[in-house]
Amino acid sequence: MHSFLRTALSFSSHVQEYAIIGFVKQAEEQAGRQHTVMTQERNRSASVQATLMHISDLHASRYFQHHIAEQLAQQAHALQPDLLVISGDFVQRADFPEQWHAITAYLKTLPQPQLVVPGNHDVPLFQMFDRLMAPLKLYRRYISDNLNPTFRLPGLLVVGGCTAHGLTISGGYLSAEQLATMEQTFQQAPPGTCKVAVMHHQVIEPPGAHGDIRIANDRNVVRMFERCSVDLMLCGHVHVPHVGNTRGLFPDIRRGTIVCQSGTSTSSRLRGGRSPNSFQLIQIHLHAIEIMTYGYRTTTARFEPVQEYILPRVETPIDPVADLYDQPGQSVNMQ
Ligand SMILES: [Fe+2]
Repeated sequence: MHSFLRTALSFSSHVQEYAIIGFVKQAEEQAGRQHTVMTQERNRSASVQATLMHISDLHASRYFQHHIAEQLAQQAHALQPDLLVISGDFVQRADFPEQWHAITAYLKTLPQPQLVVPGNHDVPLFQMFDRLMAPLKLYRRYISDNLNPTFRLPGLLVVGGCTAHGLTISGGYLSAEQLATMEQTFQQAPPGTCKVAVMHHQVIEPPGAHGDIRIANDRNVVRMFERCSVDLMLCGHVHVPHVGNTRGLFPDIRRGTIVCQSGTSTSSRLRGGRSPNSFQLIQIHLHAIEIMTYGYRTTTARFEPVQEYILPRVETPIDPVADLYDQPGQSVNMQ
């Protein structure tokens, strides 16, 4: 049986372990409409191997919305993730120490452990000397000295990669050395480990995205993910929540990596003014990855579950990706 189909069938039994505990019907008079709010609780102990909470693009500055940030912290503690991932852009303008002071204080209100990577806004814009010679000096001083962090639990490996460098304006990249280190770390994981990569920048373009959304060497990164059987990539940058797969942009790859992009969790810099502040709760199961996007709702003043994806984990590579490049005459859309 095709391994992907086998995985999907195996997963179906686990779906039943989710219990929709309650449906709360909440009448709202505003605008003369009624909304139905569905709340879900899950039986975590049955099949969940690990729970990640993913937030991004906090942007400490005048754009930082304190009431939403406080609510985010409250819900983060209530959800009790095994790991809180923050995928960059801690400040709006890295040149200003007061923004670093503010975000440092806020991070202390969020649950631990945290895995963090910098974004392009965490590199100074105006201080050209620092930008070229020590672009992440302040990030390292205030947030973390480790630009490529790792986190391990039994059955889980999370590896962060810094894509924001000195000349980064918007799009970033992973250096050859970073790619090699990440690949070595992923390859050394025991069989069956759920492998998660974290970067600020994207490797695929979500619908409606404009400009240089993807990192410069996106194809090399996607190819490395494929070789290492990376299950999931977490990123931010675009300020819109989105879930996709590397197969969507690189159709010649066989296995693919789920791409989970968080919107800005606390900033008023909403793309087009329409996408709500958001975060994602990711539950890793033996045979599936469940992603719930939470969006901030002004009528309830809290983040509510708005969109859920339950995606099968591909247990083994369908084919070694190297075969694609070794066969002459193959059409391969990756350079
Ligand atoms: Fe951002």
